[in-house]
Formats: sequence, C-alpha cells, structure tokens
Amino acid sequence: MLGYDRQLGRSNPTYGFRMQTDDLKSLESILLAEIAASGDLAAIEAVRVAALGKKGRVSELMQKLGSLPADQRKAFGAAVNILKSTVTAALEQRKTTLEAGALTARLATERADITLPVRPGPLAEGRIHPVSQVFDEIIEIFADMGFSVAEGPDIETDDLNFTKLNIPPDHPSRQDHDTFYLRPKADGSRMVLRTHTSPVQIRTMLSQKPPIRIIAPGRVYRSDSDQTHTPMFHQIEGLVIDEATHMGHLKWCLAEFCKAFFEVDDVKMRFRSSHFPFTEPGMEVDIDASAIGKPGKWLEILGSGMVHPKVLANCGLDPEKYQGFAFGMGLDRIAMLKYGIPDLRDVFAGDVRWMRHYGFLPFDIPTLAGGLSS
Ligand code: PHE
Repeated sequence: MLGYDRQLGRSNPTYGFRMQTDDLKSLESILLAEIAASGDLAAIEAVRVAALGKKGRVSELMQKLGSLPADQRKAFGAAVNILKSTVTAALEQRKTTLEAGALTARLATERADITLPVRPGPLAEGRIHPVSQVFDEIIEIFADMGFSVAEGPDIETDDLNFTKLNIPPDHPSRQDHDTFYLRPKADGSRMVLRTHTSPVQIRTMLSQKPPIRIIAPGRVYRSDSDQTHTPMFHQIEGLVIDEATHMGHLKWCLAEFCKAFFEVDDVKMRFRSSHFPFTEPGMEVDIDASAIGKPGKWLEILGSGMVHPKVLANCGLDPEKYQGFAFGMGLDRIAMLKYGIPDLRDVFAGDVRWMRHYGFLPFDIPTLAGGLSS
C-alpha cells in the first residue's frame, strides 16, 4: 500500500531488508484475499484468529522484531503495525458487509405471525400492583350488580368526614380514628385526611337523588403504624338508598360479592352486631376462612349496616321515605387474604422484586366472564 511503500522502501535510507518488505506485502495481499473470500461471520473470525490472534501470522512477525539489528527494528515494527491496522480495517469492513447481508436475508425470509398470542417480552415487564388489581376486580363485581363508582377527595372537611355521619365534634368515636388534622383555617374549621371512605356516602346523597347504588374506592388515612396497620390504606365504600331497601338486600349483596371475589361457590359468613354512629343497626362481617384455605378461622372483612336515619336527614332525605344500607371494606386486607400476602408493609414498600412476585400482567384485566384472576 502507498503509505507502507513510502515509509519502508523508497523514502527510508536505512532500509536494507527488501525481502522483508516483500514478505509483508505478499502476506498483506494473501490476508486481504482471504478476507474478501470469507463468506460468513465464522469464516471471518477464523481469518482474524489466523492473522491477528496470539499465534497468528502478523503477531509472529512482531515477535521476530527482537532478532533484527537495532537500526532496522523501528522501521520494521512500524511496517508490521501498518499491516496490522490494514488487516483490522479490512476485517471490520467485511464483517459489516456480511452482517448487513445476513440481516437482509433474514428480513426477506422471516415472517411475523401476528395471530400468535402476546409473549411476555420486555414490553410486558411492567406489573399491576395487587391493590390496583383488586380495585378492578371489586369494581367489576359491583358494576355487574348495577353499582357505579363515586369518588371524593382525600383531604376532606371535618363536617363530611365526621359531623354529617352523625359523629359530632365531642363524639368519643372520633378518638378511635387517629385522625390526621390539617392546620385550622381562619374561621377555626379544620380539614382532615379522610379516615374512611364514608364521607363519599354523604357527598353522593347530597348530590344525587335516590335510587342510589354506588361504590367508592379510595385511600384513607389514620395515624397508626405496625405490622398490620399503615398510615395510608385503602377502603371501598358501598351505598344503596331506595324506598324499600332492607337488610336482606345487604346480606345478599355481600354474600354475592364474597363468592365472586374469592371465586368459590359458597362462602360462610357471620354477621356480628356492632356499632357505627352512621348505621342503625350496624354489623361487622366475618368470613369463614376455610373457603380460602384457612380452616377454623373467622376473618373480619368489613363494617356495614342500615344507614342511620339521622344521616339521611343530614343529607336532606326523608328517613320515613328512604332507607338503605352501607358498607366499608378494608381493601388491602382482602387483597392479602386472596393472594396470600403476609405483611401489609410490603404492600406499600415499592420493591420491584415483590412486584415481580405478586404483581399482575397488564393484560390480565379482571372480568367476570373471563375469570377474575385467571
Ligand atoms: N367507615 C367504617 C370504618 O371505616 C366502615 C363502615 C362503612 C361501617 C359503612 C358501616 C357502614 O370503619
């Protein structure tokens, strides 16, 4: 090659080994011919190893360097280096050409079968959090029974979170709620982080006329933290108001819900008398956990009751005309029960390893027809 000739042959006065120049030149043309002749990536790699590998022909020339007279070493070394980079460049170029050819050939022969089901690949790496999944499952079940979804803000007025629910300012049950209060406003009123989703009952009754059939999923807050409590958790509220609603409707509705949610034919339930200021009567509901593989255990899953006449009156509804029922369910709890999640704190830790294990594929949208969690 040009640079090589000039440096080693004509312009270098100390050059004395014409034979070596010829050696290098013929080696170069042999190698370049081999490179040009190699038909695939494996062949190219074989040429590379035979030339530039530890025992390759070019490398061996370098090792000869020591046996040359000192005044020739520099020039010969430089010439071998030039040979080396010439060969390297030719190898790279040939490799690029072969790769492009291989890709073109693949594109020409391969066909994507768009009728194949979606395979989990990098695009399906994301996971749906069990809490989101369970929200969707519950909404699906109640939507099928004719409920719609209502919402309210996380930062709620004291009035809607407590007073209108028949929990006046001096009511002892306020203490049970471990409320997070915001700084009082100029008029002395305080906003709160809602301690339950029940204020959405009030918002709905104030803004809609019966018949009412809503569920209200959302975040709630209580200043409480241990293995089974976190300062933020999720509830789902239910409210039905009509002219002839009775406790039989409440029981049927919750029984249907439990069967659908736990995906079993029968769930034994226990309604225990309890007290909530906004219901009369009030009941806590336990389920027989043998349905979900824990025989002999009753698990409390929700609070419920017939809406208190005072609450109806607070919302401008005539308690003589309208009745209804309400319930409030701890969502994280039943998600843990259904999917065998042992520690509530992990549910909110945001650990991707946990998500990979307990999370759901984005395409697994729960439907009653397709099976909620299949
Ligand atoms: N709001 C109650 C709670 O958080 C649950 C509840 C809702 C009870 C509706 C009865 C009716 O504990």
